[in-house]
Amino acid sequence: MLSLHKNQKGLEQKSLEIAGELSSIPYGEPALVVCHLDADGITSGSIIASALLRLGIAPHIRVVKQLDEAAIAEILPIKAKHVIFTDMGTGQRQLLERFGTYDRRIFIIDHHQPPPSTQDDYNSGSVSSIMEFNPHFFGFDGSTEISASGTAFLVAKKMSSENNSLAPLAIVGALGDMQDKGDRSSLVGLNASIAEEAQRSGQVAVSKGLKLYGFESRPLVKSMEYTLNPYLPGLSGDEGACFKFLKSAGIDPRKQDGSWRSISDLSNEEIRQVTSALIKYLISQGLSSQDAESVVGVIYTIKSEGADSPLRDAREYASSVNACGRLGKYGLGVAICLGDRADALAALRELLLDYRKKISGYLRWLESNPSALRVMNSIQAILAGNNIDDRMIGTIISIAFSMKPFTRSKPIFGLSNADGVVKVSARGTPELVRRGLNLGSAIREASEQVGGTGGGHNIAAGGQIPSGKEDAFLSIVDAIVAKMIGGVKL
Ligand code: C5P
Ligand code: C5P
Repeated sequence: MLSLHKNQKGLEQKSLEIAGELSSIPYGEPALVVCHLDADGITSGSIIASALLRLGIAPHIRVVKQLDEAAIAEILPIKAKHVIFTDMGTGQRQLLERFGTYDRRIFIIDHHQPPPSTQDDYNSGSVSSIMEFNPHFFGFDGSTEISASGTAFLVAKKMSSENNSLAPLAIVGALGDMQDKGDRSSLVGLNASIAEEAQRSGQVAVSKGLKLYGFESRPLVKSMEYTLNPYLPGLSGDEGACFKFLKSAGIDPRKQDGSWRSISDLSNEEIRQVTSALIKYLISQGLSSQDAESVVGVIYTIKSEGADSPLRDAREYASSVNACGRLGKYGLGVAICLGDRADALAALRELLLDYRKKISGYLRWLESNPSALRVMNSIQAILAGNNIDDRMIGTIISIAFSMKPFTRSKPIFGLSNADGVVKVSARGTPELVRRGLNLGSAIREASEQVGGTGGGHNIAAGGQIPSGKEDAFLSIVDAIVAKMIGGVKL
């Protein structure tokens, strides 16, 4: 059973122990950091890589779609005595035990829910050569209170106090994993403590406002156009539509000299006007009033980044790193997190243009292909086939979940073809989780029944199934989810 008691002392001790082990890697000895391709994966891997670099150890960094036999085969030839997996590994302990037998020291820094066997091993103190740090073992919820980047940050700060400078990356990873589930989209638990610390040290500003990317520093029309989380249907990615929207809300997007107006040029009354027009608009697009109102919330600003940078707003930073991962530009994502603000930042701006276009293209495809949607008793699904890149399907279902014709009362699944298999992604809501939904175990069980694999969090999970098993998988997972939350009649 998972421990519900929060063992802060145990957490501190374990982070210190892992930090000690990492710090004792002899100078010049090869190390390898392996991380997941999303924002939390790349930020967590970069935090550990930065901490090692500070010690004079230059690690290889490998970003992978998922940790499976194929990923292991790919990293096996890399000569590294010390291998650190971040944002993955807890669910793949057996695989890593085998990998670790080749005279390697294996570390896992993860925040995923441990499968029952791992938790039992941990509770019984069973000996493993793997050094694993996961907040779940200490009663902290890794899907809401701390992400992999936060977990990595706890270790990095124990390696050197200089690594306190990495706190913004920990915040970025948590926002990338959508852990801002507190009041007004704030971070909670250990994430909140990290944010407070970063605020005290002057690295991050925490304020309330419209959660539009770069709201406090960018022209309003641009911050609206660039926002992807929350996705603004009909506005995100479309400058012309944002311009018209502001005009119709009675706000002139330009100053008299023709330059764009930013928030600092707007009166309080105008800010109220934009806010209420935006909420009304989102409701007209099918969002519930609660979801629409969540466009107002807590904003995390990284003060050292430039006013027009896609890295200043921590939510935009997360979506930028996520874009790098999802478009296969792993090196770029890592370069950004390691601090390259010259070539990498310029390349990122280009990439984001492409990313926004891709997302709106996929959403247009969804709109014009209603036959790809499947509404079942307890779940809803998008059967994307070859039409949505398997690396993007998770992002697309997260966005589509708040849009017509989908409902927030059933979890959403996305299936996309990937190199001879089918990639599955699923997303739920905090309300569904409260009612008993656990997508991680539902996907694990259903995919295993059709000869696949999977896992993840209660609220967001993924997996892989053999081609041709889509219908069987969906029926099984529908029945599992029905047992968890009950059938929902439309
Ligand atoms: O591998 P990892 O657990 O870090 O990935 C979690 C994924 O689930 C992220 O891509 C994140 O965006 C997504 N997620 C979500 N909604 C949540 C929590 C996580 O879409 N409420
Ligand atoms: O790929 P996606 O963003 O949908 O992943 C959501 C969650 O499911 C992540 O936490 C990821 O680590 C997990 N997952 C998994 N096994 C897979 C694919 C995804 O545990 N084969």
